[in-house]
Amino acid sequence: MKIQRVRGTRDFYPEDMAIQSWIADAWRRVSLRNGFLQYDGPILETMDLYRAKSGDEIVGQLFRIDSRSGEELAIRPEMTPTLARMINAKVQSLPRPIKWFGIGPFYRGERPQRGRSREFLQWNVDVVGTDDLLADAECIFVAVDLLREIGLGPEDVVVWINDRRLMAAVFGELGIPESRHLAAYALVDKADRMERAKLAAVWAESLGDVAGFEAIEPLLAVESLEALRSCDHSVMRTPTVTKWLAELESLFLVLQDFGITEFCDFKMTIVRGLAYYTGCVFEAFDRQGKLRAVLGGGRYDNLLRALGGPDLSGVGFGMGDPVVLELLRELNRLPDPHAALDVFVVAADDESASTAVRLVADLRGRGVRTDFAYRRQAVAKQFKAASARGAERCVIVGTETRERDTVTIKDMSTGAQTQRPMVAFLADPLASIPPSQNP
Ligand code: HAM
Repeated sequence: MKIQRVRGTRDFYPEDMAIQSWIADAWRRVSLRNGFLQYDGPILETMDLYRAKSGDEIVGQLFRIDSRSGEELAIRPEMTPTLARMINAKVQSLPRPIKWFGIGPFYRGERPQRGRSREFLQWNVDVVGTDDLLADAECIFVAVDLLREIGLGPEDVVVWINDRRLMAAVFGELGIPESRHLAAYALVDKADRMERAKLAAVWAESLGDVAGFEAIEPLLAVESLEALRSCDHSVMRTPTVTKWLAELESLFLVLQDFGITEFCDFKMTIVRGLAYYTGCVFEAFDRQGKLRAVLGGGRYDNLLRALGGPDLSGVGFGMGDPVVLELLRELNRLPDPHAALDVFVVAADDESASTAVRLVADLRGRGVRTDFAYRRQAVAKQFKAASARGAERCVIVGTETRERDTVTIKDMSTGAQTQRPMVAFLADPLASIPPSQNP
């Protein structure tokens, strides 16, 4: 019986794993240099954690387990509720602002499609315990710092920014009562993925009794800070909307200080699908608009309180590995997953096999990434194996090693070879080989 892997999950063969580790290493490096501390939580949580504030969409998607003792458990679909629970449990002893990041696997029963899977790795970056909009700007900076770190520029990716308070003011001016705002966000969030006619129909069905779709439709096309400033829709001049527009302008000024405005712009349809966001919201997309969101986040004022904690606000974002890797693949900018060995030890003859093993052990003890062939093979075959393994250099042990204690070193990228006394080689095994000594 041939058993397939579960739909929407991924197998990581070594070359896939090398790429995933590369992105996770970049996440970690960028988080640490921005002053964030790493944390993690369990993969199993109670269903109630997500029922409290995440919203119907994610609760509907998550994988649920009913334990034998009758507990309703969930396999974590996102990190933010766990973060809030953990902070709540120790809130008195944590110095603020709390700047934490985490990297781990998450699971959602989404329909598997390009860049979306049922199992993915997600990086979470959050600042909790301050309302300062510097924290919102810093989170966006960290996201951009990562994008730049992995070779993506403003011509490749855009971070779209909006503010739910601005949207709430707009909804209010359009006559949508607060109790229906979540439904309105859910529809605006779908605006870029749904045909206009279909959206108009679902809007009419869900909110038609309080506001017609024609009232909001022109606003959905506002896709830049410039367009927002000059938008002549009547709601834009009202005091409540103007107030939150000014707040958004202040955020963009800080983004300017952080030097990342080329990456950032305003977009009205960015409101986010999760229910707990209350302030600034943002999502990054590829400029060509071919893929789903690369990352998404925002400010959440009430999540900690909703989970039994104090009145602490937080802001942060999550980024999965599938979309960003898909984008890098599309742009042909994925790193080469092979360069994995510093040295491949080649035994030139049968008598050198034991010397070769001793040298391998010695090099590994010095922290040099080293490998060798088990089978006794011709030198040319061993060179071939070394190339296939991405070895930077080969060290050949043979008669001259036994007789004069010297080794031949071959640079696998230039082909240059040189002979060195074993002692000199071991003193600096990764020393470069001058091209002038090409045979
Ligand atoms: P989210 O928008 O649900 O937000 O997910 C954030 C990112 O995780 C997405 O932009 C995408 O990169 C990745 N992601 C989500 N679902 C999938 C999936 N099924 N397959 C592949 N990648 C996926 C959150 O999760 C929030 N908790 C983020 C946050 C942190 N907000 C504040 N702090």
